[in-house]
Amino acid sequence: MSKRDSRRPHPAPPGTISQVVVEAVKALSAEEISELCLRHTLYDWSAQAALKPMAIASAKGVHFHTVDGRRFIDFNSQLMCVNAGHGDQRIIDAIKRQADLLPYISPFMATEVRARLGQKLAQLLPGDIEKVLFTLGGNDANENAIKIARTVTGRSKILARYRSYHGATGTSIQATGDPRRWSNEGAVGVVHVLDPYHGIQRGTDSAEFALAALDETILLEGAGTIAAFILEPITGTNGILIPPDGYLEGVRDICDRHGILLIADEVMTGFGRTGRWFGVDHWGVVPDLITLAKGLTSSYVPLGAVGMRPKIAAYYDDHVFYGGLTYNSHPLGCAAALGAIQAYEEDDMVGNSQRMGEVLKKHHRRLQERHPCVGAVRSIGLFGAIELVRNSKTLEPMAPFNSTSPEMKAISQALVDAGMHTFVRWNTIMTNPPLCITEAELDEGFEILDGVLEIGDRAVKNL
Ligand SMILES: Cc1ncc(COP(=O)(O)O)c(C=O)c1O
Repeated sequence: MSKRDSRRPHPAPPGTISQVVVEAVKALSAEEISELCLRHTLYDWSAQAALKPMAIASAKGVHFHTVDGRRFIDFNSQLMCVNAGHGDQRIIDAIKRQADLLPYISPFMATEVRARLGQKLAQLLPGDIEKVLFTLGGNDANENAIKIARTVTGRSKILARYRSYHGATGTSIQATGDPRRWSNEGAVGVVHVLDPYHGIQRGTDSAEFALAALDETILLEGAGTIAAFILEPITGTNGILIPPDGYLEGVRDICDRHGILLIADEVMTGFGRTGRWFGVDHWGVVPDLITLAKGLTSSYVPLGAVGMRPKIAAYYDDHVFYGGLTYNSHPLGCAAALGAIQAYEEDDMVGNSQRMGEVLKKHHRRLQERHPCVGAVRSIGLFGAIELVRNSKTLEPMAPFNSTSPEMKAISQALVDAGMHTFVRWNTIMTNPPLCITEAELDEGFEILDGVLEIGDRAVKNL
């Protein structure tokens, strides 16, 4: 007897509701949900034994609720991805309408949602980018962008930066510069370059200095061997690193000089996160390829995209594009993206990100004035981070690179206890709320942070 058969309940007598149906309608408790999820499903980026995932019941706007009745303010838009906020009816309705009409059709077909979304993105994307490949998420958008760059240039190497994240599989994790790469190494072909930012104690290079270092790496690697430079225009999980003015423009020039394609990974920075539609828009730089996901659909349904300039798109007019997945250009994803863009436009969420970004900056400054453990604050739009230190003179981080500390763990736990969800990584606390956030909701979040940072203050040694 199979494992499945052995667990099947005895048949219920005719005319009564079967036990299976009764079990299906009985709601699980928070405890049961968490326990079953752990027992039968594997969690990302974690050793499983110490986990206790929160059971979530519902979410609306900038808040979500747990099954056992707790309310959280979402100060990281989950994984910096629910840009429109939770439960936006326009996105939900767009998905529902498409589900009624045509939930799936092969990517070889043409659909109205795909047509409309392609056209809309051509309007929104930087410069002359007017063609996209629809993927499933950010990771495979980067895989495809790199594949396209290698094919079109006939070169194999990829440049990427150390303080970067580009995805979890294949070449995307090789291109990732941060320590998530270390246990995934194996393939060749990615050369990492230093970022302008060198950690809180050393700070940020000038654009000229950083560009000279890039130029030197290209010289030493052989420009003719490099297909592309992939970078997050404003680095996300590695600490909201905003490049000095002139850097991205300089990178564009260097790439042009050497025939290297520039891939902007806008998976996190796209769709209003930084107060403009795309991160590169702050500096007027047009990349050759741009990768998108997360805010594209506000993450209600998975969808990614690779946008390409006409000179790259033209290559595929008479060359086969050797790529494709069953769920590419998924109608539900395309519908969700159209719903999300409608929400961004109707409520001017990109403008709100810029305006509320100024309010967020004030809160950051206030925290820095009040708390000796706040060593640095950085933000652009609603894309922000707070770096904590244990010495306000030497700026020694509250946790070392790629590690944590008892204080950071205590801060993390205190945030959860106080009803805030955000991303605490190494010595950094993220402040990336949904773009629909109001001033009052920002106040609510920063009041929690203000209270919790006292834990950090108590660890500062030089007071
Ligand atoms: C900048 C960047 N690129 C790529 C990815 C990978 O995207 P996904 O998780 O949708 O595959 C992420 C995810 O966090 C990201 O932040």
